[in-house]
Amino acid sequence: MLLDTLGAGKLPLAIVSGEGALLWDADGRTWWDFYGGHAVTLLGQGHPRWADAIAQQARTLSFVTTVVDTPVRDRAAARLCAFTGMDQVFFVNSGAEANEAALKLARKATGRPVIIAMEEGFHGRSMGAVGVTHHYRTQHAPAHGDVRFVPFGDLEALERALDGSVAAVICEPVQGMAGVVVPPRGWLAGVKAACERNGSLLIADEVQCGLGRMGVPLASMLDGVRPDIVSVGKGLGNGFPVAACLMTDAVAATARPGEHGTTFGGGPLAAAAVEATLAIVEDEDLLARGNALGQEMAAVLGRIPGVLEVRGSGPWLGVVLDRPAKIVAAGLRDQGFLVGTSSDPYVLRLAPPAVTPVFAVRLLGEALSDVLGGAMRAAGAA
Ligand SMILES: Cc1ncc(COP(=O)(O)O)c(C=O)c1O
Repeated sequence: MLLDTLGAGKLPLAIVSGEGALLWDADGRTWWDFYGGHAVTLLGQGHPRWADAIAQQARTLSFVTTVVDTPVRDRAAARLCAFTGMDQVFFVNSGAEANEAALKLARKATGRPVIIAMEEGFHGRSMGAVGVTHHYRTQHAPAHGDVRFVPFGDLEALERALDGSVAAVICEPVQGMAGVVVPPRGWLAGVKAACERNGSLLIADEVQCGLGRMGVPLASMLDGVRPDIVSVGKGLGNGFPVAACLMTDAVAATARPGEHGTTFGGGPLAAAAVEATLAIVEDEDLLARGNALGQEMAAVLGRIPGVLEVRGSGPWLGVVLDRPAKIVAAGLRDQGFLVGTSSDPYVLRLAPPAVTPVFAVRLLGEALSDVLGGAMRAAGAA
């Protein structure tokens, strides 16, 4: 039997099929997917070109040891580097693994032991990633690593925490699980400059905010920053499990064969999924479409009484409410809309596919007005 107790709490639905931004259950009931499966499906469900690329690759070469070259992996790596402006890539299977590789690389490259991470940040559920994840670190004590936490967006606190023992600063350029929390403009550039002065590396965890989620290839670009190491995942294969640790040539030059590895990372199917996903993002102009969608969502939802703030950009927004988000998410679900929540109990997280039609935003707005108005009526009646 499927173990339900590990992993996130289950929603009371079973989805059997999807197309674009729509999902269906076995009875034919429809939902608009405004959560993208935890911010994954930028292309939406069942994109024919993506599906064909994986099927074709499965027939041609399904798997071979990662210690031989495969042209499809080389093409995927070249495309990913061109898209993000980074120099080299190591493919893994999940965001947590990308961060594990990043942390190992940074400590090895600098010869220093300490990592600085952000309060309220999230980096995954493996032990190294838990070690730099503020809340989970105490849940799983004693956690891994010599880690210092500083408040997100506070450059002075970061500068005070930096010293000659710090290998790297790891942060999400925009915090996802925390509720799409955007730092002050210029903060990430300040972090990068402080790292450079201190001989430390900047690891940008773009597993959630990167690869088009914010309407740009990397969220770091919004602050004009090129990190030393970047982790990406989620949207990289549009749901095919693949992630990557990207780095500069300077960081890559410190790595030696055998120091890290993975059985499946960058296997032919994963590489085909990456190549197709990035090609579709570019060919179908999904960065621009995602930006337009995000602007429409912000405009429509920001006007609704009960919505205090809409933050983020591209098809990735945090909607701050005047009441608990879980109840509102359940109300929206009843009306046929899937949305996410976050570790902030008052924030809904929206991460729809960039291909979501704009009229669906109007429908979501009507449903949210209804849910919030209904809750207000209920509160008034009580
Ligand atoms: C910023 C960030 N880093 C890392 C992870 C972990 O990724 P995965 O679940 O693929 O291991 C997540 C997942 O939500 C994330 O949001």
